[in-house]
Amino acid sequence: MRLALASDHGGFELKEAVRGWLQEWGYQVVDLGTHSPESVDYPDYIALAAAAVSRGETDRAVVLCGTGIGASIVANKFPGVRATLCHDIYTARMSRLHNDSNVLAMGGRILGADLAREMLKVWLETPFEGGRHERRLRKVAEIERKILEGEKP
Ligand code: RB5
Repeated sequence: MRLALASDHGGFELKEAVRGWLQEWGYQVVDLGTHSPESVDYPDYIALAAAAVSRGETDRAVVLCGTGIGASIVANKFPGVRATLCHDIYTARMSRLHNDSNVLAMGGRILGADLAREMLKVWLETPFEGGRHERRLRKVAEIERKILEGEKP
């Protein structure tokens, strides 16, 4: 699996750790920045990672800012992206089982490293449950299509 990775300064420290864990576990990582703790605007970096998933250049992405909120807002603007802001193991697992999350958003100022590492592992290894959730995600995709094509959702 190939993953894009991006953060602003608020998520920078955790992004550096996430890159190390992903590499340790054998994933291919495309780190799109930011590359220092200097203050930047989160949309500039998060958009790069979300675009990579939207265009099919990477399978998934991990995006981080201080809270993960801005990162998830930006990522969900991109067609085909299902970005999920997760705070614990339960939300990380459910985001895969029920939402087929393809972008994990986390808050670098909220999560401790051990928790973030465990959440990341669960998110990477939990399959999508399908079934009724497949139907619901088809409805989400249909809403996205209508909006893009100027129809009433
Ligand atoms: C930056 O100070 C902070 O606003 C940003 O990292 C993020 O938390 C936004 O949602």
